Amino acid sequence: MVKTTLSVIKADVGSLAGHNVVHPDQIASAEKSLAEAKEAGLIYDYRVTNCGDDLELIITHRKGEENPEIHGLAWETFKRAATVAKNLGLYAAGQDLLSDAFSGNLKGMGPGYTEIEFEERASEPVVIFMADKTEPGAFNLPLYRIFADPFSSAGLVIDPKMHEGFTFQVLDVLEGHSYEMNTPEESYDLLALIGTTGRYILKRVWRKTDRLVAASVSITRLSLIAGRYVGKDDPVAIVRAQHGLPAVGEILEPFSFPHLVAGWMRGSHYGPMMPVAQRNARCTRFDGPPRFVALGFQIKDSKLVGPADLFDDPAFDLTRMKAQEIADYMRRHGPFMPERLGPEEMEYTTLPQVLEKLRGRAKKEE
Ligand code: F6R
Ligand code: MG
Ligand code: MG
Repeated sequence: MVKTTLSVIKADVGSLAGHNVVHPDQIASAEKSLAEAKEAGLIYDYRVTNCGDDLELIITHRKGEENPEIHGLAWETFKRAATVAKNLGLYAAGQDLLSDAFSGNLKGMGPGYTEIEFEERASEPVVIFMADKTEPGAFNLPLYRIFADPFSSAGLVIDPKMHEGFTFQVLDVLEGHSYEMNTPEESYDLLALIGTTGRYILKRVWRKTDRLVAASVSITRLSLIAGRYVGKDDPVAIVRAQHGLPAVGEILEPFSFPHLVAGWMRGSHYGPMMPVAQRNARCTRFDGPPRFVALGFQIKDSKLVGPADLFDDPAFDLTRMKAQEIADYMRRHGPFMPERLGPEEMEYTTLPQVLEKLRGRAKKEE
């Protein structure tokens, strides 16, 4: 049986007006690069889009996951878009391309990616999520609700194919090892880990009965390259839908709650996740608030049909209003926790310099 691979690969290679939005010329450059690859027969289909300042490549092919030719294509495409950014004087041109030489795999190179290889079902609906100004742990809460919370996904109770539950892979990004845990029987243990969203990240989900792969998130273990952590980055996720998996509506339901995530302004603040239409995936206020985009596709003979822009719907208006209200509330804390992250989680800190200045002025308290 022929297998299709869906690869979603992203990088911030520069943007217009600070960290706001990818420039149309970068999109055009990436489209050209992927059109050439399709023409040459390397890939079957593609879409190019953006979530804020992240350039997003959605690619179908038959080469499997972690394929050097596909990763090489993405790398070349990002390099070209970075050159466009440099020529236009865009901000942070080439920011996520952390190495000069590509060595066969994008792991640890700066771009983020998630891939699923699967046999196409008779009809194959998928939802691709893209986020800006947050980190991969932002998917922990919604993925748990989609695949393990019957108050959100009715199918867990009433669809015989989902009723046995799901297997979750959790990556400990600091230690670099992962665990597989089953729901519903290990739900409380799973939550004990994934509630720590900066460290234990949901990476993959399978249907328990037949190990059909149901979801995948772009996360690898953290590594310190070019002086910054790679892996803790604006994430993407793929979720397969329907016919024994959660319905598209069950997949979207958890996003009606604008949960707080880390990553707003300088990667050092908590803010509410706002689900938006793709055209509104452009962070402004305090470089945020953090955004989610959801694009729905059907995949047929390794070709992409779509997208449907799933958050482009008044049904999410109240969520967006609520997110703005929460944004106001959080912002009024200014530099105080919990609006500002704890010191160990911040992307920037002047704390060592401040403490250094105070050395010598420290008085012993009895
Ligand atoms: C957050 C983000 C922005 C930048 C901020 C400062 O993820 O990308 O909030 O951190 O605009 O950017 P620099 O340091 O490039 O001036
Ligand atoms: Mg940026
Ligand atoms: Mg970004």
